[in-house]
Amino acid sequence: MDRTKTFKIITVVGARPNFMKAAPILAAFQDHNERQATSGVKDSHFFLQNLLVHTGQHYDESMSGSFFADLNIPKPHVHLGVGSGSHAAQTAEIMKRFEEVMLRERPDLLVVVGDVNSTLACALVAAKVSFDANGARPLIAHIEAGLRSFDRSMPEEINRIITDRVADLLFVTEESGLRNLRGEGIPDEKVHFVGNTMIDSLLALKSKAEHSSILDTMGLRADDPERGSADGTIRYALMTLHRPSNVDQRATFMNILEGLEELSHTCPVIFPAHPRTQKRIAEFRLERFFSAENGNSHSARENARIRMVPPLGYLDFLCLMVNAAVVVTDSGGIQEETTCLGVPCVTVRENTERPITVQIGTNVLAGKAKEGIRRAVRQQLESKAAHSVPERWDGKSAQRIVEVICKEIREKQLL
Ligand code: UD1
Repeated sequence: MDRTKTFKIITVVGARPNFMKAAPILAAFQDHNERQATSGVKDSHFFLQNLLVHTGQHYDESMSGSFFADLNIPKPHVHLGVGSGSHAAQTAEIMKRFEEVMLRERPDLLVVVGDVNSTLACALVAAKVSFDANGARPLIAHIEAGLRSFDRSMPEEINRIITDRVADLLFVTEESGLRNLRGEGIPDEKVHFVGNTMIDSLLALKSKAEHSSILDTMGLRADDPERGSADGTIRYALMTLHRPSNVDQRATFMNILEGLEELSHTCPVIFPAHPRTQKRIAEFRLERFFSAENGNSHSARENARIRMVPPLGYLDFLCLMVNAAVVVTDSGGIQEETTCLGVPCVTVRENTERPITVQIGTNVLAGKAKEGIRRAVRQQLESKAAHSVPERWDGKSAQRIVEVICKEIREKQLL
């Protein structure tokens, strides 16, 4: 086999929600190479050489490091060490440092995932870089293209729109993405409906996650069978909140917490808190809503508060999600994961860029007002509504993406 036939790819990750979306794609590149290596000599063979770049947008062990271990992601080849900053400063710093990598490595393809600042920054660099006098640049593939909340005050919405605008291969997770991209005039031949790579990770690791010891560590196993469910788990809710629009204004954040008081009197509410949220709780003096313990020795009063814990790793969080009576969140990905698991979800937002989770999944939009949140939580705790899993959320999305990339390489003779 002609081993010089190597198609060079850079895949970028930067922030927590990128890791579970990228991991299956890295594994699918690897699978392709193994198949090529073992299937005898053929001229049509080629290898996919991937370079993993971590921008360092997220850098804490709990926001980044632990996910590499849980998701079996190889150590990044390049770490840009960018860290936190304003949107402009963070995006600009990623662009400056990533451009150097781009010019040094000259890849054939850039793969970016999701909608975080790292996604946008690296896509923009690739769109404008020039490797030669003819302006040669890498192709740009966007994983999770086409999602739209139609709310341009969301930083992620700006990141999505611009990334899709400059991408050459747009990989879509749900049908609304196809409609949105068509509506924006993106040619159909660039767009591929492949399903959801985050769900690939979930399906691959769900049974491993069920062996996590987190339920015992957090005292969520019932000693008294009367209190527990059939599998011995105490009924509890799981919550995440980190969106600037929910936690950066004291009045809004407090209103949301008041909306959740009824729930926290009904059952324990486990709250792994993002660093941004932890800072706001201290700054706004909102500690009275939370108990920061996680042992077994809770008084009734402590149990009536939200139990704040540090951010959790992928497997522990997945285990908590699988067993929760209800999940309350403002995350994008968790709306999809709960839909796939059939766990009722209350989304503390006015809109969602993932409408399939509301149409056929288990998600309800509660808005940000306390009455709406109380109503949605009550409804979801009693919910017996039928739900189904969206089309192509079957664990094979990364495989489809690699097939499209290989077809592109062959048909356009990119090697
Ligand atoms: C980012 C994404 C958001 C995603 C979220 C998941 C953008 C615009 N937003 O938001 O879409 O849902 O990640 O977590 O890219 N911090 C730490 N340690 C870390 C990382 C962050 O302490 O490892 C703190 C810093 O104070 C930082 C703040 O969190 O200023 C916000 O981090 P940043 O990366 O700017 O955005 P997120 O809110 O995490």
